[in-house]
Amino acid sequence: MTERVTVDGLRNRAAGGEKIVALTAYDHPTAQILDAAGVDLLFVGDSVGTNCLGYTSEREVTLDDIVHHLQAVRRGVVRAAVLADLPFGTYDDAAVSISAARRLTNSGADIVKLEGGVAKEAIIRAIVVEGIAVCGHVGFTPQTLYEPGKKGRVQGRSREEAESVIADAVAVEQAGAAMIVLELIPESLAQVITERLTIPTIGIGAGRFCSGQVLIANDVLGLGTRKLRLAKQYVAGRELFLAGVSSYVDEVRRGAFPAAEHGFAMDAGELPQ
Ligand code: KIV
Repeated sequence: MTERVTVDGLRNRAAGGEKIVALTAYDHPTAQILDAAGVDLLFVGDSVGTNCLGYTSEREVTLDDIVHHLQAVRRGVVRAAVLADLPFGTYDDAAVSISAARRLTNSGADIVKLEGGVAKEAIIRAIVVEGIAVCGHVGFTPQTLYEPGKKGRVQGRSREEAESVIADAVAVEQAGAAMIVLELIPESLAQVITERLTIPTIGIGAGRFCSGQVLIANDVLGLGTRKLRLAKQYVAGRELFLAGVSSYVDEVRRGAFPAAEHGFAMDAGELPQ
């Protein structure tokens, strides 16, 4: 029997120095593969919008979109914990945030994530008080800072900006969050934050010293066309898909597929003439 990863379990493992491995997942077969490969935490992030739904920005993603993909991912997972993003506009006041967060946990999320630090401290606290685990997200926050067609900008390079990112991270922890994403900040700043906080830090473009790492699965699998410095492509997925589908196209056109072994026989006497 496979033991399920829990949010508390991840915190304990990180406290013991074990790295947390996270990736995004947007659909059922991918969730099954990532889960079987041993990924600890699957993010049904609002990056689903630009990576899967053809939107131009995270801001277009709705709560219904996240719920739809979250349910598919949940059905594919036997071990990993599942995190879901609260989309833009769903956590501006406590009541709305709690109801959106509850919808996500009722749809299979073990933890919900929202962007912002000091400005969202009260919202995080309100959700946590309801017994829902929250993951904060500071540094580069795509819902507020993303500009279509532009790459994310590293946050916290000046002393003033660095102090502001630290204040945001501390606010997230003080509000009761169970973990925090640090996105696109200098490695040394992420290290300072990781040493200062007691909750796990999950880095994306935040260097080597976070408690764990998350990447967009499409980048790891080479499914997109972009190459980001913060990511590493482990498989040339796009080329593999293209080669496979091109062979199928060719074989159907030439009449090479289906072959006899792909068809079904019946007794000749049963065949109406
Ligand atoms: O939207 C997302 O998937 C994310 C992470 C990758 C940090 O927020």
